[in-house]
Amino acid sequence: MALFQKKKKSEALPPPRHIAIIMDGNGRWAKKRGLPRRAGHAAGAETFRTIANYCRSIGVEYLTVYAFSTENWKRSQEEISGIMELLKRYLKEAIADMEKNHVRFVFFGDLSRLSPELQTLARDAAERSKVYQGVQVNFCLNYGGRDEIVQGAQRFASEVAAGKRKPEELTEALFSDYLYSAGVPDPELVIRPSGELRTSNFLPWQSAYSEYVFMDVLWPDFKTKDLDEAIAQFHRRNRRFGGR
Ligand code: FPP
Repeated sequence: MALFQKKKKSEALPPPRHIAIIMDGNGRWAKKRGLPRRAGHAAGAETFRTIANYCRSIGVEYLTVYAFSTENWKRSQEEISGIMELLKRYLKEAIADMEKNHVRFVFFGDLSRLSPELQTLARDAAERSKVYQGVQVNFCLNYGGRDEIVQGAQRFASEVAAGKRKPEELTEALFSDYLYSAGVPDPELVIRPSGELRTSNFLPWQSAYSEYVFMDVLWPDFKTKDLDEAIAQFHRRNRRFGGR
């Protein structure tokens, strides 16, 4: 297990339980090399594989990744098809290798807009991996944070209308149960590589008190040492949650 040092060398710190990552910079990585954008996404998918395995090996319990946002449908049809093909291939391989990797898959997002084949693969991966205790990968697919909150509010409102809930019952804790992330602890650390300093509609509810680490490296170039560096930065932060 990798150990993270705070101030004294002897003080070993565990990694955060839940890390979330915006996998950004695939397009720029490809452009720099004169390659099509899809080559950047393919390289990004390989980075994801490496980082997910590393997270499992160091004892991270939850890894949430932004794979496709509700806004990504604005991209060219060619690019969208390329990402969907990659996702299909990745999920097929993940299902085949499940016994070896022990990754539990959960999907955050409105899967109904994806192709029937991709929906089946996602449901299959989630169902078959439920038993594994390695790392839980929360795959954000057709995910938008505001959309997640609106959908949760609609569900709560319809339960009120049906007489199953009362408006005054609603607390922050109860509302969390109406989100895709129900039952998952909030991420302590959110990482955005690629140099962009935005949160881009990623986990706005869940990251209210997360530590953000922004890094200059493009996602396909992101290495396990970069994750170590982000975790080390996290441990140097003084988390106060609004207190003193
Ligand atoms: C952001 O980079 C990345 C995406 C919109 C897609 C993320 C998808 C992958 C990493 C591949 C699919 C994943 C798996 C695991 C199969 P960008 O295209 O916005 O990059 P740019 O800002 O440099 O243009």
